Amino acid sequence: MEHKHFQTLLVHGEHVLDSATGAIAPPIYPSSTFAFKSADQGAELFRSPLDGYIYTRMGNPTIDILRNKIALLEEQKHGLAFASGMAAIHAILVALAGSGDSVVISDTVYGGTAALCNRTIPNMGIDMRWVDCNNPDEVEKAVDKTTKLIFVETPANPTMKIIDMKAIADIAHKHGIYLVVDNTFQTPYLQKPKRFGADIVMHSATKYLGGHGDLVAGLVTCDDDDVFTELYRVVCDIGGIISPFNAWLLLRGIKTLHVRMDAHCKNAMKIAEFLEEHPAVETVWYPGLKSHPQYELGQKQMTGPGGVIAFEVKGGKEAGKIIMDSVHVCTLAVSLGDIDTLIQHPASMTHSAYSKEDLEKTGISPGLIRLSVGLEHPDDLIEDLKQAFKKAGG
Ligand SMILES: Cc1ncc(COP(=O)(O)O)c(C=O)c1O
Repeated sequence: MEHKHFQTLLVHGEHVLDSATGAIAPPIYPSSTFAFKSADQGAELFRSPLDGYIYTRMGNPTIDILRNKIALLEEQKHGLAFASGMAAIHAILVALAGSGDSVVISDTVYGGTAALCNRTIPNMGIDMRWVDCNNPDEVEKAVDKTTKLIFVETPANPTMKIIDMKAIADIAHKHGIYLVVDNTFQTPYLQKPKRFGADIVMHSATKYLGGHGDLVAGLVTCDDDDVFTELYRVVCDIGGIISPFNAWLLLRGIKTLHVRMDAHCKNAMKIAEFLEEHPAVETVWYPGLKSHPQYELGQKQMTGPGGVIAFEVKGGKEAGKIIMDSVHVCTLAVSLGDIDTLIQHPASMTHSAYSKEDLEKTGISPGLIRLSVGLEHPDDLIEDLKQAFKKAGG
């Protein structure tokens, strides 16, 4: 039966009841290897490994439920699951580009992505070209015959800069190359990049899709059969596969994505409004606030503002440090998308791989704080921040 609403898809999706037992939870198959019925069948499977199961790095029934589910949610044909978001990004880059090729990448991305693209990927002979993806002319200028794909993150970690996916997709497609969108901050519940021209969508599923801070995982979706074949080759060759247990945890988390995201958005909106009014706060960047420089674009691309807020306090890094050391309800920790509210300092933590110049250029100032708003009562979070601001003199 066709599911009319996304929420129903989240709860049911691909998984069908186990016909033998009626179990509603999907089974976990921890098996690393799978017995062949005969030598001929084993040999046949090695010719077409996705027609059955050989070895978990190459395919696993629990992981397959997850692969199909994320493909369904992102409205794409293929899904792939990885051991982490970084393994997913690495796979995309090395599957689609090689020595002598170039990749155009948004100048504001997660610090780990920046580290990968500044160190490991250039060592493979791939030229990474960093551009302000809000400036289509700059993007257009960076693309040439060697360019294989454009990679963007929207909203971007940590500044909440929003990229116009349709504008960048048009440039990519004019040149016959792919647009890859990191949809970690929004999830398919709040943003469907394919509808704006993205060819490949990826997630750090460690964040909202898992949602509970108890797993590390990455997911990728695409429509193109050749792209899928290349990505599958990389999973098999490099081995950055998700474990069956983490795939199962992720499937469990995804079932409540809509409920959690609605609550994250509601809490974050309340806290963003509080921050915007507070005298200790210089600036707030949250896509739900009309003061966000790309508020209108966000309204077009996203069905909700998400749960991450970036803000700058008066007194810069020193005041920020006092605030982060003074919170009791918020937890001073990296990551985002958890049920716990997490607070951290991008310039010295998640984005410490950025050079001083790049931090400055992309607006990751010394006083910038990133807050991933969790599911505690918002009034408790506001009281916590208030007392922390007071300690910092605000
Ligand atoms: C937007 C974004 N993409 C990718 C990653 C990397 O994912 P992982 O930590 O699961 O490897 C992160 C991690 O914070 C992220 O925030």
